[in-house]
Amino acid sequence: MGLSAMFVACSFLAILISSPTNAQTAPSPLLPPSPAPAPAPHFVNLADLLSVAGPFHTFLNYLEQTQVIQTFQNQANNTKQGITIFVPKDSAFSLLKKTTFSNLTRDQLKTLLLYHAFPKYYSLSDFQNLSASNPATFAGGSYTLNLTDNSGRIHVASTWSNPEITSSVYSTAPVAVYQINKVLLPMAIFSTEPALAPALAPAPETTKPSDLAPSSGRGIASAPKSSESSTTESSASSISIGLFSSLVMAVSSGFMLIL
Ligand SMILES: *[C@@H]1O[C@H](CO)[C@@H](O)[C@H](O)[C@H]1NC(C)=O
Ligand SMILES: *[C@@H]1O[C@H](CO)[C@@H](O)[C@H](O)[C@H]1NC(C)=O
Ligand SMILES: *[C@@H]1O[C@H](CO)[C@@H](O)[C@H](O)[C@H]1NC(C)=O
Ligand SMILES: *[C@@H]1O[C@H](CO)[C@@H](O)[C@H](O)[C@H]1NC(C)=O
Repeated sequence: MGLSAMFVACSFLAILISSPTNAQTAPSPLLPPSPAPAPAPHFVNLADLLSVAGPFHTFLNYLEQTQVIQTFQNQANNTKQGITIFVPKDSAFSLLKKTTFSNLTRDQLKTLLLYHAFPKYYSLSDFQNLSASNPATFAGGSYTLNLTDNSGRIHVASTWSNPEITSSVYSTAPVAVYQINKVLLPMAIFSTEPALAPALAPAPETTKPSDLAPSSGRGIASAPKSSESSTTESSASSISIGLFSSLVMAVSSGFMLIL
């Protein structure tokens, strides 16, 4: 009775101790994952993308009000050419008087939104070549944008504004979404220069060209170091636990022999 109780206790102990050993041998989440297979071209939900990035709430609300979002999504879903959208941040809209947009007719607002996209996918590096030809936007032939690429700082000029691309939100063919810091304002919609919002106008955004540059490896370089050392530590301790648990196993199987 005493012996079998001891045996039960010992095997229980052995199970307790050996189970963390098994857990330790599982691949550590700290190790970099093996490279994933090339992703298949997948569906990009533009409304979802715009609702989490930015903030782009003003632009997204206008897209949904006018149903231009469907036009863009259809182009993204169903064409080989794809789409490139320039999305002004909320702060770009608040630079201008509210009446600039509330006074537009529904058709004008629609055209203004279509003016913020090309019916074709362009990567950032494509813009160098585009600066020579002023390509027409989704709004039609007379609605063109002039692109300039000044050693990596890309500007997209309309008649009354010359916003800079301040961030690449998404760019995988056939869909590109670039953040711009001003609203595009074409002559065909605004016959005079729209007035700036009074006083409250936020301070000009500090542009971060680094947003466009591939991120430097600094953060990544330091990461493997720490995960390496913690992996070494944990494998060392798993070895000692392993030894101990096999000892306990040996002792308990000794009891089994006695029984
Ligand atoms: C785009 O594709 C998605 C997924 O296939 C679908 O749910 C959505 O209705 C499509 N939208 C348009 C406008 O084609
Ligand atoms: C917008 O409309 C209001 C009222 O209809 C008018 O007073 C105002 O001058 C208009 N503003 C612009 C910029 O056209
Ligand atoms: C730009 O145009 C030149 C000559 O027309 C071509 O060789 C180059 O590949 C083009 N670059 C891109 C990024 O399309
Ligand atoms: C683009 O550039 C062309 C010629 O360089 C000019 O005629 C046109 O007005 C410009 N358009 C805009 C929207 O700045």
